Amino acid sequence: MNDAPAHDLTDKVVLVTGATGGIGRVLTPMLVAARAKVVLVSRQHDRLEDLAASVGVPDTHCLLKDTDLRDPAQAREMVADVITCFGGIDVVVNLIGNWAPGKVADTSDEVWAEQLGSNLYTVFHVLREAVPHMTEGGVIVNAGNAEPVEGKGGQLAYAVAKGGVHTLTRSLALELKPRGIRVNAILPRNVDTPGNRALQPDADPSGWPSAEEVAQVIMLLISPGAGVVSGALVPVRGKS
Ligand SMILES: NC(=O)c1ccc[n+]([C@@H]2O[C@H](COP(=O)([O-])OP(=O)(O)OC[C@H]3O[C@@H](n4cnc5c(N)ncnc54)[C@H](OP(=O)(O)O)[C@@H]3O)[C@@H](O)[C@H]2O)c1
Repeated sequence: MNDAPAHDLTDKVVLVTGATGGIGRVLTPMLVAARAKVVLVSRQHDRLEDLAASVGVPDTHCLLKDTDLRDPAQAREMVADVITCFGGIDVVVNLIGNWAPGKVADTSDEVWAEQLGSNLYTVFHVLREAVPHMTEGGVIVNAGNAEPVEGKGGQLAYAVAKGGVHTLTRSLALELKPRGIRVNAILPRNVDTPGNRALQPDADPSGWPSAEEVAQVIMLLISPGAGVVSGALVPVRGKS
């Protein structure tokens, strides 16, 4: 009997930013089950250690990097450490996010900078460093959000940042097509995570996609089954 996982990522190095978030901590065990070597990135080392311990990933297959990816220097150092440790990068999944509401006249310089910094600059900083080390067959998955761009106003800085992620995804897919590297984005909306339940205590979460369902879409985009898909902005909306 063949007991290989559906997506066999043996010897693939998968870098996940925002790994300790609602989606990242569900995606990580899927990657480990698929035998990937994982690089888990967020700012808080204790949360990264808790995640690695809960998944039971061997030290030889896991690198934990507490890194603030709003800072380009930290992004550079983090990717250099990954190359020293594992020798290359096959997959990058960008799951850092931060949401703040605000109409145009109410958006302070601080909120504007923080929203672009967390949601867009983190993606640019890590990909600028990682892409030169990626080879044919490489995959990048970003996290956008159609809702603030096409659905509901009043979250201007977040909308601009996520719109930037959408454009970065499509433009980079064109740039990297000759190198055989695919770039796509998932566009979730109200994923059923502890964070969203806390933010929206009166909402009905029954139509929201689970974090598992969103992570499965990421696994699908990583897999050879999606080998002809690049430049796609994939809505992941559950039943809502
Ligand atoms: N959940 C949803 O409903 C939803 C909907 C649409 C789009 N999305 C997008 O999907 C992605 C994942 O969502 P999620 O719900 O899993 O997010 P989340 O639970 O808020 O997790 C965010 C993660 O990013 C890390 N992080 C934040 N700022 C960072 C920084 N400057 N440098 C390094 N790490 C940083 C956090 O850890 P530390 O705080 O320890 O650094 C955490 O691991 C995000 O891009 C989000 O915008 C989510």
